[in-house]
Amino acid sequence: MEKETLIRPSLLSADFNHLGNAIKEAIDLGVQDIHYDVMDGTFVDSISFGEPIFKVVNKAFGESIAFDVHLMCVNPLKQVSQFAALGCKEISFHYEALTLGDIPRIKEIRGQYPELKLGLAFSPETSVDEIKNLLSLFDFVLVMSVVPGKAGQKYIEGSEKKIAQLDEYRKNFNLSFKIGVDGGINNVTGPLCVDSGVDWLVAGSYYFNAENKKEALNSLHKAKVIE
Ligand code: DX5
Ligand code: ZN
Repeated sequence: MEKETLIRPSLLSADFNHLGNAIKEAIDLGVQDIHYDVMDGTFVDSISFGEPIFKVVNKAFGESIAFDVHLMCVNPLKQVSQFAALGCKEISFHYEALTLGDIPRIKEIRGQYPELKLGLAFSPETSVDEIKNLLSLFDFVLVMSVVPGKAGQKYIEGSEKKIAQLDEYRKNFNLSFKIGVDGGINNVTGPLCVDSGVDWLVAGSYYFNAENKKEALNSLHKAKVIE
């Protein structure tokens, strides 16, 4: 059976003068999820956007498309609760931003928002071995294939090996977490990740800079897994 890869355009590369149009166009092209990058200026250098804009776009488009919020923030669990209260359905935060005391709080959030899908993102300097014991707490894992902080960077070669390791780990232990990848995804690196077992690809600049977005999506959709 063929499993079609899901593409998640990252709004960080959209034209902010026409944010609504960018989301609408993605919906018209059949995109199911939009990746929403939240940067706080501390965990990463830049500041992007946060809850106020999420509230507006989720209200306008939340019935047609899901927003997958990627928190690149210190003290992420505080933000998780705020986004969840605004109706966010899917959210990831960074392993590197967690402290030991956060683990019980993650369990509490699960109980509080049973519908919310929680993801663990991890940066290039972190190994799969460091995070794997936490994966039973999460619905998905987000492999960062660039150093988090900005769009348009080059894919770090070998990131697909982490995907393969995670895929093997979930098969061996019969776990059901999904695997996403974020950073430098294009028509070359996307298929590489798909071949390694990824479930979805985040694509920012490759999608939003494309003259023909439908073709750009199709070039990533060509990447298919034969099961
Ligand atoms: C990087 C962000 C990514 C970024 C992806 O810190 O988390 O989601 O917007 O952009 P591209 O696809 O251009 O690398
Ligand atoms: Zn991201």
